[in-house]
Amino acid sequence: MRLALIGFGNVAQEFARILLEKEKEWAVEYYEGFRVVAVSTRGKGSLVNPEGIDLRRALLDLHEGGSFSPENPERARVSSLDIIGLDFVDAIIETTTLDIAGGQPATDHLRSALSRGKHAITTNKGPIAFAYRDLQALAASVGKAFLFEGTVLDGAPVFNLVRENLPGCRITGFSGILNGTTNYILTRMEEGEGFAAALETAQKYGWAEADPSMDIDGWDAAVKVTALLNVLMGAGITPGDIDRQGIGGITLETVREARSRGQAIRLLCEGALVEGKPVGRVAPVHLPADHSLAKIRGTSSALTLKTDLAGELTVQIREPKIRETAYAVVADLLTVARRKR
Ligand code: HSE
Repeated sequence: MRLALIGFGNVAQEFARILLEKEKEWAVEYYEGFRVVAVSTRGKGSLVNPEGIDLRRALLDLHEGGSFSPENPERARVSSLDIIGLDFVDAIIETTTLDIAGGQPATDHLRSALSRGKHAITTNKGPIAFAYRDLQALAASVGKAFLFEGTVLDGAPVFNLVRENLPGCRITGFSGILNGTTNYILTRMEEGEGFAAALETAQKYGWAEADPSMDIDGWDAAVKVTALLNVLMGAGITPGDIDRQGIGGITLETVREARSRGQAIRLLCEGALVEGKPVGRVAPVHLPADHSLAKIRGTSSALTLKTDLAGELTVQIREPKIRETAYAVVADLLTVARRKR
């Protein structure tokens, strides 16, 4: 399968490293293997080679100079849409950054790929929150895969779990902690660290969104709640429909007071159908310290799914790193390869 990487930030670079580690193993198991034939970025240049990009060189270029070297023979002056249109691209892996206003340009990238009969995999929450129904219908009409496991709970299975392992079940609601940055800040504050210092660490380690107000004001969490409601419960809503409150108003004093009452503050995400209408909420709540979600600390996340036939199931991921998010891309890619096989 010939892949185009649209976006080459932390997640896509880690995916490239995993591909280099596993290529021999996968070439046997998924008999034709995988080859990256194009890479497109907004500010680091683009690469094209129908025979296969030299990923080691691409990673080294970025490590040494922050962009693809002008001497790199694979360097090409092409836009991301040009790359998606190349006839030797079979699938795109879209990892551009989140746009909260309308999920662009990621939605256009996915639409363009699917309408040209290519598989589309993304870790970008925007398209799922703004255009899920359209993209899903398009994928079904062309018989190609549209997969997005990395959008919620990093590499832990959520959408794949429901699709592959809960046949016949209806998801009736969910609750959880879905934003690592705010959870890290809240738990650091429990240990006495200030808001700003904790946020700085979250940014340093690359957990925070490029614009950290997306995390602090609850937008990232609201987008994830929207994605879950759209995909698992057929909602057809956008993030503006979520009742949203961030953690900007929480001070060390608030956290200390909660602790003295035996409580922990967590940014709780919830979704349900109320009288058939989808309802989503993101808000900081006081939980008893022995509540299962109060025990989710640092950048860890957890999601409890309520179902009509299989009871309540919880998926939890502990302190995910970039490799775990990149694994979501791997899981989606191998799902496509298994279907082809
Ligand atoms: N900014 C996001 C978070 C990244 O903190 O959870 C993962 O979606």
